Amino acid sequence: MLSIDALTKQFGEKIAVDSANIHVDKPMMIGIIGRSGAGKSTMLRMLNRLSDATSGSIVYEGEDVTHLRGAAKRNWQSRCAMIFQQFNLVPRMDVVSNVLHGTLNRRSTLSTMFNLYPQDDIHKAIDILNRLGIAEQAPKRAEALSGGQQQRVAIARALMQDPKIILADEPIASLDPMNAQIVMQSLRQIHEEDGRMVIANLHTLDTARRYCDRVIGMRDGRIVFDGTPEQLTTGVARDIYGAGADFSEAATSTEIETLDRQKEFA
Ligand SMILES: Nc1ncnc2c1ncn2[C@@H]1O[C@H](COP(=O)(O)OP(=O)(O)O)[C@@H](O)[C@H]1O
Ligand SMILES: [Mg+2]
Repeated sequence: MLSIDALTKQFGEKIAVDSANIHVDKPMMIGIIGRSGAGKSTMLRMLNRLSDATSGSIVYEGEDVTHLRGAAKRNWQSRCAMIFQQFNLVPRMDVVSNVLHGTLNRRSTLSTMFNLYPQDDIHKAIDILNRLGIAEQAPKRAEALSGGQQQRVAIARALMQDPKIILADEPIASLDPMNAQIVMQSLRQIHEEDGRMVIANLHTLDTARRYCDRVIGMRDGRIVFDGTPEQLTTGVARDIYGAGADFSEAATSTEIETLDRQKEFA
């Protein structure tokens, strides 16, 4: 279904992603973990073609998408929607218009200029918001919503494209624990009910364990673990994060960085 082979990204001397191989044979919910700088974002950006691979290939359902250009590339990008840590909504625009933004690439410039959306799209947007439990927020400005609600608006916007794959780069890193759970549950629901593949970079180990079918661990650009949450033992996790014996299961990558820095100063 999705085949990533020897995928590499180099920034000058720096190898951000080093010959990564990932094979997915059915829609799954996949979590990518690893400390900051491990190459997680670069991996997702290459998948979505926001960033071009230096070498290697990405094949989806038999189609090589690594070098697509122009309309074919935009078509691929609408099939794998991206969600970001900072939501990337238009703050002053109302929620439903933000969601309808997800249809922009198939609308004419003129209808975009005059903010004309087809009735069907408006109904679809409301249905999606309803499904995510935030339909009553539809007329509000995006900036008036809580972080968790804003991230669900971003998910709704992604769903407007009817994507096969949802790529989420640290979708809950800016949220409090309760909102983080709601957002992860929404992603899980979309995966289970619609059969969409979800690939999420996650900064906490327990989130990856709880919500994902498969966890990929990256370290210094390389994939150092690829298995089930059960196979992700504390020892394995410690290795992925390059952390010492004081590594705790509940630790986030941010906490591990802090721990390391404390050691440097000690
Ligand atoms: N545009 C860029 N130019 C130069 N180096 C980059 C760029 N983007 C990422 N890197 C480097 O690539 C490595 C991986 O970064 P990234 O994919 O953002 O890691 P992560 O998301 O796991 O924190 C880091 O060392 C980072 O500094
Ligand atoms: Mg990142």
